[in-house]
Amino acid sequence: MNVAEILEGKRVCVCCGSGGVGKTTTSAAIALGMAARGAKVAVVTIDPANRLANALGLEQLGNEPRRVSRDRLAVGPIDVKGELWAMMLDPKRTFDELIDRIAPDSGRAEEIKANRVYRELSTAVSGSQELTAIAKLYELDQENEFDLLVLDTPPSRNALEFLDAPGRLNSFLEGRALKAFLRPTGFGVRALGRGALPLLGGLRRITGLDLITDLTVFFQLLGDMTNDFSERAAQVEQLLRADTTAFVLVSSAAREAVDEAIWFGERLASDGLPFAGVIVNRVHHDLLGDREPRELSAALAGTLTPSLAGRVSDNFRDYHVLATRDDHNLSRLATQLDARRLLLVPQLDDDVHDIDGLARVHRYLFASQVDRERLIADLVA
Ligand SMILES: Nc1ncnc2c1ncn2[C@@H]1O[C@H](COP(=O)(O)OP(=O)(O)OP(=O)(O)O)[C@@H](O)[C@H]1O
Ligand SMILES: [Mg+2]
Repeated sequence: MNVAEILEGKRVCVCCGSGGVGKTTTSAAIALGMAARGAKVAVVTIDPANRLANALGLEQLGNEPRRVSRDRLAVGPIDVKGELWAMMLDPKRTFDELIDRIAPDSGRAEEIKANRVYRELSTAVSGSQELTAIAKLYELDQENEFDLLVLDTPPSRNALEFLDAPGRLNSFLEGRALKAFLRPTGFGVRALGRGALPLLGGLRRITGLDLITDLTVFFQLLGDMTNDFSERAAQVEQLLRADTTAFVLVSSAAREAVDEAIWFGERLASDGLPFAGVIVNRVHHDLLGDREPRELSAALAGTLTPSLAGRVSDNFRDYHVLATRDDHNLSRLATQLDARRLLLVPQLDDDVHDIDGLARVHRYLFASQVDRERLIADLVA
């Protein structure tokens, strides 16, 4: 299978994965590929590298998708029949907009936005980026202007964090945290469960009595708006569970990453969330094949100095070790998940920071099985 087949009939694609695996890169490449096939696609990226942001025309922070111009796309090798739109998420602004939308009047909205607890909550606290990413996704889905929305997710320790974070924040907003805070016996953190600890940790930085006062005022200000939060959360959950939504895990082929991919698949299944597949990024393919490293250094000796030939063949040998490891881990992953839903993208020579780079990643994601094998064979040759 390829990404186009996996996303057939889908309206939302959420790319999850642990830090640095290539979520931002693959979400942009997926969006590019689907736009190339004629769809009107928006990719919501989170903190893309500067050069990638520039390549997509995201120099200025804006909290709405902008169309990537034909001129920018034309520098790459892909003919884009549809439309590619991109935005870089601004979590603080998204949170503010959420408050504006659900506050009963603008006065209350301004008061909330000026509150210290709110300011902390909307920026530094873990979970706020995840919540705003989902809030943006929901809002764009409601506006119904795109055929497909591709959501990049915030850097996190592991992919499951993305699924847990909004719930954590939500239970905080429903006031459970405050009740626990104000319990005379202490912080009552245990009553909240472990999930709330990062939130409280973030808030603890505001010290002393002020915290209690600010928190109390904050929850008074929120008042019955917490019901709206809960209602929205229920609708968002519906969107995430819809069969037009696809969760894609981006992973590497390292052992822990493969373990995580297996857990992630199980967790999505038990939560009733639609799991579409795993993109295994930066795979090392065996470039040595059946050749012995010694053979290689002998072959290179004619063209390179002996010491350089030795170093090059050492390099190949190290790569061969990585490739063998990746191959072993991938076989394990393939037995645990539907192997047809594993899409491999090789380790490329360069970082992916422009339309050309995205096009290279895109080739592997959208190739047919036969073409993919040919591409890998070319790589090895
Ligand atoms: N297949 C690849 N080959 C070579 N480099 C790659 C490949 N995929 C991604 N990269 C590079 O790896 C780095 C991390 O990629 P990216 O920013 O997409 O990861 P991420 O999962 O979004 O990270 P974070 O969790 O920090 O948001 C980038 O410099 C990117 O250009
Ligand atoms: Mg990223």
